[in-house]
Amino acid sequence: MIQSSSYSIHFQLDGYKKLNELISKNTYSSVFILVDSNSFEKCYVRFIPKLETNVRIEIIEIDPGEEFKNLDTCYGVWEALTELGADRKSLLIALGGGVITDLGGFVAGTYKRSIDFVNIPTTLLSMVDAAVGGKTGVDLGVLKNQIGLFLNPKLIVVDPVYLETLDKREIKSGLAEIIKYALTFDISLLEDIKNVNDYVDIEIIEKSIQIKNSIVIKDPFEKNLRKVLNFGHTIGHAVESYFLENNKKESLKHGEAIAIGMICESYLSHKICGLTEDKLTIVKDYISSIFKKVTILDSDLEFIFEYLKHDKKNTAGEINFVLLNDFEKFELDCKVSTDLIKESIYFYNS
Ligand code: GLY
Repeated sequence: MIQSSSYSIHFQLDGYKKLNELISKNTYSSVFILVDSNSFEKCYVRFIPKLETNVRIEIIEIDPGEEFKNLDTCYGVWEALTELGADRKSLLIALGGGVITDLGGFVAGTYKRSIDFVNIPTTLLSMVDAAVGGKTGVDLGVLKNQIGLFLNPKLIVVDPVYLETLDKREIKSGLAEIIKYALTFDISLLEDIKNVNDYVDIEIIEKSIQIKNSIVIKDPFEKNLRKVLNFGHTIGHAVESYFLENNKKESLKHGEAIAIGMICESYLSHKICGLTEDKLTIVKDYISSIFKKVTILDSDLEFIFEYLKHDKKNTAGEINFVLLNDFEKFELDCKVSTDLIKESIYFYNS
């Protein structure tokens, strides 16, 4: 069990026990399970036998994928909740990956001025990152997570059984966030990852959640320390948004874009924050050994810079980066020139 501010994170059977206790203790009127077609097909059958309650259960299914993480989808879910008679004493269970937990939390937080919700993340990425820490929300066009709330779930249930339903590419996408925790907080995680098959290991998941939880407890609203969780995400998000919008580009998973971002931002860290060349090489080699190479063309750069201008961490028109002085040592709010950002992308390409 991991204790967070107002809720706790429970693993496997203990998690379902806590969920059943939560439902009976709060005398909820009904339970709504939000899924996408993937989590419905693959995870719902594993989940539903664990739920022990006489309360009415309804399923709300949305289309899968980041392109549906928007207000239109929220509208559909708010309407479904209304038509199915959800009231203030209803509970929403978000069973799925990061899109489901982000969107589910936002819908729950805004429906009838807020109903309770529980996160049951089913991807590695949502287990170690998205479901934890109270960030909920949706994209506005291609701008990621522009609309949302900080709002905590009542409980998080983490069960690696759901990871059996994922392909390797999806698992690797979650691995990028674990690498981020390794570089910023606990480099021993890199060795841990190397020593397990298929990157799925409950201890690594628990260690990662512990790191994230310890950060968000200290800085829930990202005023300061929590910004570290954006390492790799400044360039990563811009690349991700650009690739998402441009239908001539291959589709990129979140973690694949963050992997690119971590190589670029490690280069910036080397250039202006003291990360040694040896450590930069370790980062580049390690990440390149896991993630496939993506080519970023010169003609892509102006578009990527447009997205960088909209990064949520920008202040007074300046792009702010989290950079590394060393492994496990970082600086927040680093300003970087446009030329150096370009150079970092050339370094990634090289
Ligand atoms: N995913 C970054 C954060 O939760 O702050």
